[in-house]
Amino acid sequence: MEVKIAPSILSADFSRLGEEVRAAEEAGADYIHIDVMDGRFVPNLTMGPDIVAAVRHHTSLPLDVHLMIESPERLIGRFAEAGASILTVHQEACRHLDYVLAMIHDLGVRAGVSINPATPIAVLEEVLEEVDLVLVMSVNPGFGGQKLIPRTVEKVRRMASAMVACASSAELEVDGGVAPENATRLVSAGARVLVAGSSVFNDRGSVGDNIAALRRAASLAGTV
Ligand code: DX5
Ligand code: ZN
Repeated sequence: MEVKIAPSILSADFSRLGEEVRAAEEAGADYIHIDVMDGRFVPNLTMGPDIVAAVRHHTSLPLDVHLMIESPERLIGRFAEAGASILTVHQEACRHLDYVLAMIHDLGVRAGVSINPATPIAVLEEVLEEVDLVLVMSVNPGFGGQKLIPRTVEKVRRMASAMVACASSAELEVDGGVAPENATRLVSAGARVLVAGSSVFNDRGSVGDNIAALRRAASLAGTV
């Protein structure tokens, strides 16, 4: 089965961002994951549309932009203009989710929706057919380098069956604490896009070696 790897640049060396993104592309990454935080929806501040535009110049990979911001409708136009290929909003941050998803599609961008660990999958029931990507958070969003919350693996499994049940063609992505140690289980549970920050950008191995380790683990799914 095809599994995509989406390195999160949150753990990259920001002073060499272009180089880090190119290294990820050369190592066979499928998406570049960009974490946008507003200091309100999550207790941290990171990047805005200008960083997305800067990254756009260093790669031809799709830019998978994860918006951890309140009322994302205020800014999705800017992120679309900056070159986002996928815009993922949080269900918890949208008062009118259906409207926000339609806005993203009207801008010609793929629309994703994400839920936090404490949010039940049932809240997505009405929009599953509207989205191109479903992102199940496996940590509470806000910071890189956290440990995956173990019960989220089962949640990925339940999300995957809900998607099969409504014949959704959306990609199922998982984000937070993803590492070779849990990638096999996550893919077996139904994850098809693995976001990985600190397990890709670290000083234990090169970006290439780290992505290869994730791919090896992902490829064992279904065999162990
Ligand atoms: C967490 C972000 C993640 C983060 C993942 O709030 O949404 O994308 O960068 O980092 P790791 O893989 O280190 O948990
Ligand atoms: Zn993310």
